[in-house]
Amino acid sequence: MSLIPQDFIEELLRRVDIVDVVGRSVQLKKAGTNYKGLCPFHQEKSPSFTVSPSKQFYHCFGCGAHGSAVGFLMEHTGMGFPDAVRELAREAGMELPQHEADEATARRAAEQRSHKARLREVLEQAERFYRDRLRASPRAIDYLKGRGLSGRAAARFGLGYAPDDWQGLAAVFPNYDAEVLLQAGLVVGRDAQGQTLDPAQAAGATVSRRYDRLRDRITFPIRNAQGEIIGFGGRVLDRGEPKYLNSPETELFHKGEELYGLFEARQAIQRHGQALVVEGYLDVIALAQHGVEHVVATLGTACTADHVRKLFRHCPQIVFCFDGDTAGQRAATRAMEASLPLLGDERSVKFLFLPVEHDPDSYVRQHGADAFEREIGRARPLSVFLLDTLADGLALDTAEGRAQAIARARNLLGQLAESALKGQILREMAQRLQTPADELREALALGGERRAARPAAAAAEPQRAATRERVPGDGSRERFAPRRAGAGRAGDAALGAARSQRLSRPRADHARTALRILLAHPELWHEVSPAQHELLTAAQQPVGELARWLESYLDEHEHANASALWEALRSAGLLPAAEELQPAELVELDAEQVQQDLRGALGSIEMAWIKQRQQQLAETGLGEQTARLEYQSLSLRLRELMRKLPRL
Ligand code: UTP
Ligand code: MN
Repeated sequence: MSLIPQDFIEELLRRVDIVDVVGRSVQLKKAGTNYKGLCPFHQEKSPSFTVSPSKQFYHCFGCGAHGSAVGFLMEHTGMGFPDAVRELAREAGMELPQHEADEATARRAAEQRSHKARLREVLEQAERFYRDRLRASPRAIDYLKGRGLSGRAAARFGLGYAPDDWQGLAAVFPNYDAEVLLQAGLVVGRDAQGQTLDPAQAAGATVSRRYDRLRDRITFPIRNAQGEIIGFGGRVLDRGEPKYLNSPETELFHKGEELYGLFEARQAIQRHGQALVVEGYLDVIALAQHGVEHVVATLGTACTADHVRKLFRHCPQIVFCFDGDTAGQRAATRAMEASLPLLGDERSVKFLFLPVEHDPDSYVRQHGADAFEREIGRARPLSVFLLDTLADGLALDTAEGRAQAIARARNLLGQLAESALKGQILREMAQRLQTPADELREALALGGERRAARPAAAAAEPQRAATRERVPGDGSRERFAPRRAGAGRAGDAALGAARSQRLSRPRADHARTALRILLAHPELWHEVSPAQHELLTAAQQPVGELARWLESYLDEHEHANASALWEALRSAGLLPAAEELQPAELVELDAEQVQQDLRGALGSIEMAWIKQRQQQLAETGLGEQTARLEYQSLSLRLRELMRKLPRL
C-alpha cells in the first residue's frame, strides 16, 4: 500500500513527462498524437509499444504491459513503488515530504484505515442495540405509533431507542472506556474541568466522565449514500431540550455533506428524476411511509452546495420543501444561493412552501400523498422564487426600489451560468422591473451572451463542470456542533429490505466494458447518467466496487487523467481489481470510437434493466396509476436509447 500522499503523486505525474521517462530507455517515434517504439518488456520486431502524452500512459498492444511513468520505472528497473516515486521526484526537483515517507507514517496510514473500519463497526453494533431496545420498550413504541409511524417504516429506517441509562451502551461494549466510542460520537467524554472532548481529540485524552450521548431518545441511524452508518440522530419522547440531538462531527460524519435518507431514497429519486429536500427526520420517514419516497433531509443545517451537488448526481431536479414560516423562507434563500452556481438548462430547483401550520409530516398525514404530490406540482420554479426574493420588501414601482432590486440581483444572477434559464429569468425580471432586457443586463454588469459566465470547456462538459465545481458551503442555521472529513461501509439486517429492492445486476460483460473504458478515460464520466451509475455500482465485483471508488475519486479530483487515476487505484489497493478488467484501451487513438463504445455499453446495461423492470411491472399488474406511469416513462426512455444507439 502506498504511504506517499496521493496529492504528491498527482503533482509529480503532472510535472514529469512520461515521454521523457520512457524515452530514456526506449527509442520513441512520433506517430499521430502518440509515440511508438519497440516494447522493452517483450521481444518484437515492429513497434507496438505506445506512449500517450495526453494520458501520460503507456501501453503495449503486443504484450499488454501498461502503466504510468511510475509504473514504467517499476517494471523496467524493478524498483519498488516508493523508490520509483523518489527517483522521479528527484528528477522533477520535488521534495518528497520526508516524514510521510518513513515507516512510522506508513503504519499510521494503515492504522487510520482500520480505525475507520472500527468506527463503522461500533456504530453498527450500537444500531443493533438501539433496535433491540426499541422492541423492548412499549413506551418508545407507543410514541412512534402515536406519531402515526408504521412498524414497517420504522424498520426500513432502522429506528431504535436509546434507553434512559447513563451508560446503556456498556451492555454492548464491555470496554466502555474504549476511545473508539468517543471517536464514533456514541459516548460523550468530559475532562477534569468538565469540558466536553472533541471526538477528534479523544485519542489519549484523560477522561474523567463518560456517558451515552443518546439517552431516552428515539434513535435515527444516519447513513451515507452507500448505506453505511455514520452517525445517529436522537429525538426526545416527551418534552425536553434539545428536541433532537445528533452525532457530533467525527471522522465519518460531516453533516454539511450528508443527507438523511439518501440511501433509502436513491432509486426513487432516479425514477422521479427529482429529489425532495425537507427539514426533518420524521418528514422523510412519514413521506416515505405514504409513498413519497424520493425524499431526503438536511441534518439540522442549512442546505449546502455539497448537498446540492450530491443530489444532482442522482437527478436533474431538486424541490426544496420548507416550512412556511420566516425560518423556512430564510432556509429557502440559503438553498437557492447554494444551488445557483450549479444550475443550468439541465438542472433545476423548485421551492415548495407548505401552509404555515404544517410540516411535510403533518401535511401528508392529514391530507395524504396525492395532495402532497399536487403541492409539489405547484412548487415555485427558481425564476419565480428568485424574483420574489429580489422584490421582497421593495417598492418596485419606485426608481429606488428597482435600483435596490438590481443591486440584489447582481450578486445572485452573477452566479448563474449563461443558459436559457438565465435568459428566461432576465426576461421575466425585465418585465417586472419595467426595464428593457438589454438595459437590465448592462445594469447587472453581466455582459452579453458572448461573455459567458463559464469557460467554453464547461459547456462541452456540462455535468462535470456542474458537479465538480467547489463552492464554499454555508453552515448557517446550524443548530449544533463543529465539522471535519471521511466515508464508510456497512452490512446489516436492517438494510436487507432496502437492499433487496436494489436494481438487479447488469450483465457482467457490458458493465465490465463500461468500467474498463471509464478507468482509462475518466473524462468520459459525465456520459454516465444517474440511472446507469446506479446500475454500475450494483454490478458484480469488481465493477461495482470500482465504480463507487471512481465516483468518489473523481469527486475530489476534477481533472484526473488516466495515469493519476492509476496511481490512486494503486494506493487504494484496487489495482489488482482494475487489472482484472484489462483496460486495453488506455491509449486508444480514436476518442470518438471509445466514446461510442462507452455509450453502447451503458445503453445496453440500461436497456436490459428497463426491459426487466417493465416485465416486473407487468407481472405485478399495471392497475396502479404509478406503475402505469413508470411503465410508460420507461418505454419512452427505451425508445430514446434505441434511437441514440441504432446499432444495438
Ligand atoms: P424541527 O424543529 O422542524 O422539528 O426540526 P421536526 O422535524 O418537525 O420534528 P418533530 O416533528 O417535532 O419530531 C427539523 C430538523 O432540525 C433538526 C433535526 O434534524 C430536525 O429533524 N433539529 C431540530 C436539531 O438538530 N435539533 C433540534 O433541537 C431541533
Ligand atoms: Mn415535525
